[in-house]
Amino acid sequence: MRTFSYHNPVHILFGAHTIAQLPDLLPAGSRLLMTYGQGSIRRNGVYQQVKEALQGWSLLEFGGLEPNPQYETCMKAVELCRREGITFLLAVGGGSVLDGSKFIAAATLFQGDPWRIVAENAPIEAALPLGSVLTLPATGSEMNGFAVISRLSNQEKRGFGSPHCYPRFAILDPHTTFSLDDRQVANGIVDTFVHVTEQYLTYPVQASLQDRQAEAILLTLIEEAPKVRLTPQAYTVRANLMWCATQGLNGLIGCGVPQDWSTHLIGHELTALYGLDHGQSLAVVLPGVLRYNQAAKQEKLVQYARRVWGMDNGSAEALATAAIEKTVAFFQEVGVKTRLSDYGLGMEAVEAVSNRLAARQVRLGEQGNIDGSAVAAILKMRL
Ligand code: NZQ
Ligand code: ZN
Repeated sequence: MRTFSYHNPVHILFGAHTIAQLPDLLPAGSRLLMTYGQGSIRRNGVYQQVKEALQGWSLLEFGGLEPNPQYETCMKAVELCRREGITFLLAVGGGSVLDGSKFIAAATLFQGDPWRIVAENAPIEAALPLGSVLTLPATGSEMNGFAVISRLSNQEKRGFGSPHCYPRFAILDPHTTFSLDDRQVANGIVDTFVHVTEQYLTYPVQASLQDRQAEAILLTLIEEAPKVRLTPQAYTVRANLMWCATQGLNGLIGCGVPQDWSTHLIGHELTALYGLDHGQSLAVVLPGVLRYNQAAKQEKLVQYARRVWGMDNGSAEALATAAIEKTVAFFQEVGVKTRLSDYGLGMEAVEAVSNRLAARQVRLGEQGNIDGSAVAAILKMRL
C-alpha cells in the first residue's frame, strides 16, 4: 500500500426527512444563495422543503444551472454573490448543481480571470463555504472537493479540485431521488461503477481493505440495479444506491492505491463535443480502456472476475476477458448503451477526440501509456 494522507471534512446527514434539519447545519446569520438546476426541484417538492426549512433566513436564489454546468452561467451567479455579499452557498440538485456551485464559490473570491481555475488548475486560496442537498446519486461530488465545468464557446469540459471546495455538509434524503427518470438512474449507477473501477482496476499494491471496499460497492450496485427497475419506489434500494455513489468518490477507496481516470478524461471530450451524458460517455469508453490495457491490468481483472462476477474457470487471460464482457453486459442491462454507433458517432468522433487529447499531450492511465494515438485505438474498439 502506498503512503497517503486522507482528510474528508464533509458532514453527511443521511435519511428520510433530513432536509428539515438544514437550519442546524448552517452558520447563524448567513446570507444564503440557494443554487439549483433547471426545475426538477420545483417539480419534486424539494424546493418547497428547503424554503420551508429556511423560513426567516436571508435567502436569495439562482436557478438555471445546466447538466454539465456552463462557465457562462456560473459567472452570472458569481456576479450575484459579489453584488449581494453572499456568505454561504446552498446547492440543491444533482452533481452539476454541486459542481457549478463549487466553481461559483471559488470564482467569487478569485483574483484574476476565474477560467484559469478550470483551464490551468490555478491555485484556489479561498472559496465561499457551501453545503448541499443532493437529489441525484452518481458523482460523489457531495463528499469531495472536485468539480467539472464546461464552456460552451470553446466546447471544453474540464475538472478542478481544491480542499476549499469540499461541501461543509451534504443532506442525502433518498426520497428526493424517487422522481429521477430511468435514464438518470442508469447514468448514476454507471458513473458510480466507473468511479470504483478507475480506482480498483489498475495493478495490485496489496491494499486489501481498499480492494474489498471497492468490491463491496460494485457488488452492491450489481445487486441493487435490477431492484430499482422493479421497485422504483423502494426506499431502501434508493438509500443503498445513494450511499454507494457517495462512497464511490469520497477518496476512501482511493487511499494508497494507483488510479486510472482515463475513462473519465476521454469521456469528458465525448460530452463536450457530442453532448453524451456523463454516464453514457463512460459506458462507451471503459470497455475500450480495459481492453487496451488488459495485459497491464490482468491481475486486478482476474481478481474482479473472481470476487465480483463469481467466475473461476479458465486461464487468467480468459477470466480477464470475460470480466470485461460482464461489465459491458451489466451496463446494457442497466440501460446505458456502450458503443459510439449507438449515439450515431463514427470515425469522425474517434479522430476529433483523439486529436484534442493529443494536442494537450496527455499521458493517461495508471501506466501513463495512453496518449492521443492510444485514445484513437481505444475509441476504435468502441465504434
Ligand atoms: O437541472 P434539473 O432540472 O435539476 O434536472 C437534472 C438534470 O436534468 C435532473 N435531476 C437531478 N435530480 C433530479 C433530477 N430529475 C428528477 N428528479 C431528481 N431528483 O437530472 C439531470 C442530470 O443532472 P446532473 O446534475 O447533470 O447529473 P449528475 O449528478 O450525473 O452530474 C453530472 C455532472 O457531474 C460531473 C459530470 O462530469 C457532469 O458534469 N461529475 C462530477 C464529479 C465530481 N464533482 O466529483 C465526478 C464525476 O465523475 C463527474 O465527472
Ligand atoms: Zn464520473
